[in-house]
Amino acid sequence: MLNGLLQLFGTAIWFILPAYVANATPVILGGGSPLDGGKKLKDGRPIFGPGKTIRGFMAGVIAGSAMGGLEGVVEQSHIYFLLGFLLSLGALVGDLLGSFIKRRLNIPRGRPAPILDQIGFVVFALVFASPVMLPSGEIILTILAITPLIHLGTNLIAYKLGLKDRPY
Ligand code: CTP
Ligand code: MG
Repeated sequence: MLNGLLQLFGTAIWFILPAYVANATPVILGGGSPLDGGKKLKDGRPIFGPGKTIRGFMAGVIAGSAMGGLEGVVEQSHIYFLLGFLLSLGALVGDLLGSFIKRRLNIPRGRPAPILDQIGFVVFALVFASPVMLPSGEIILTILAITPLIHLGTNLIAYKLGLKDRPY
């Protein structure tokens, strides 16, 4: 029972790992010019806000794709290279869309939007990867269930390490 559960977690994390790497990298390597150029929409609020930068986006896609490449080497399969890139791109596009929605809801940059902050990126990662490969429904559900916990845990660690100003 426990063995089966651990195996399920392991398979889920191994599959979605490039998206996690893509999502975490900007916290360390992000900064600089905002992707939206500081522009605002008619509602007077930023398109994405200053927390979404060009460098963070690029670094996330590159690091996540590199993780996919590493998985490809381990698994001896080319598909992981492409999957890694799609999962990473999807994660960052999903993250951007999340910020877009937050700004429209008048939630300032860096303030929490529960659920959206934790699983928005992973849903988009799966959507982007789906033309190439979708894991089983069981694995998808596992990913959706454990990602919020992993996200909150790693953010708390990043906060304790002084990489983030907020623990979420
Ligand atoms: N980051 C970045 N570029 C991105 C995504 C993130 O530079 N494309 C960096 C920013 O320094 C950001 C940090 O990673 O502050 C944490 O990311 P996130 O929590 O997604 O952004 P928030 O600052 O919370 O902004 P938002 O409210 O828009 O989610
Ligand atoms: Mg945030």
